[in-house]
Amino acid sequence: MRLDKRVTALGLTRTQAKKMIAQGAVSVNGCVEKDPGAAVKDTDDVRVQGAKATVRGHVHYMVHKPKGVLTATRDGREKTVVDLIDSPPRDLGPIGRLDKDVTGLVLLTTDGQLAHRLISPRFEVGKLYRAHVEGALDESAVQAFAAGIPLKDFTARPAKLTLEGESCALVEVCEGKYHQVKRMFQAIGHPVVELERLRISDVWLDKNLAPGEYRELTEEETALLYEAAGMKQEN
Ligand code: URA
Repeated sequence: MRLDKRVTALGLTRTQAKKMIAQGAVSVNGCVEKDPGAAVKDTDDVRVQGAKATVRGHVHYMVHKPKGVLTATRDGREKTVVDLIDSPPRDLGPIGRLDKDVTGLVLLTTDGQLAHRLISPRFEVGKLYRAHVEGALDESAVQAFAAGIPLKDFTARPAKLTLEGESCALVEVCEGKYHQVKRMFQAIGHPVVELERLRISDVWLDKNLAPGEYRELTEEETALLYEAAGMKQEN
C-alpha cells in the first residue's frame, strides 16, 4: 500500500496526508519518509507525529435519518446523511436511499461492492418499514400485498404486511424501486402519511439513536451484512 493511503487511516484526506509526509512528520519503522508513494507493508510501523497509523479496512455506520435530510453523499444546498457523520472518510456513501420525508435506518459504507450488492434485487435483501396511512387497513390490504401489487411500470413482488393498528402496518419488501412502499399503499387506496425504515437485512435501527444520530456498526452487524451480500469480509 502507498504511504499516503496508509496515513489516511488516521482520518486525514489524501491531500493532508501528502502534506504531512512532505513536511517530514511521518516515520516508517522509526525513519522519516518524505515520499508519499513509498510502499509500506501492513506490518510496518507508520507514525504521524508519533501517532500510529493503523491499517484500517472499510467502515460502516448506521444513521437515524431525520426528515428533511437527503440520502446522498454530497449536495450543494441541502444536508445529506453523510453530513451527519463527523469527519467522514471520502469514500463513504449510503446503501440505497430513503425519500427526503422518510425517517429511520440508513446504512453507510466505504465498501462500494457491499453497497452495490445490498441494493441489487438479485440478493433479495429485506427492508422493513412502518407505515402510517390514510384510512383503515384490513385483511384485504394484507392479501393485496401478499399477491403482489400491480403498479404503472411493474408489479411489486409479494410482500408481507402486518397490521399494527387501524392505520398503521409493518411491511417488508425486497425491492427498492423509486417511492416503492408509498406507491404500493397508494395503489390500494391508502396513501402513506408517515414512513419509517426499521431494518435492513437483519440489522435493526438502534433504538438508542435519536434522529440525526449515528454510530459505527458492531462486528456482528457488519458480518450479517457481508453474509447477506454473499461476500467474504475483508476486515
Ligand atoms: N419506499 C418509499 O416509498 N420511500 C422510501 O424512502 C423507501 C421506500
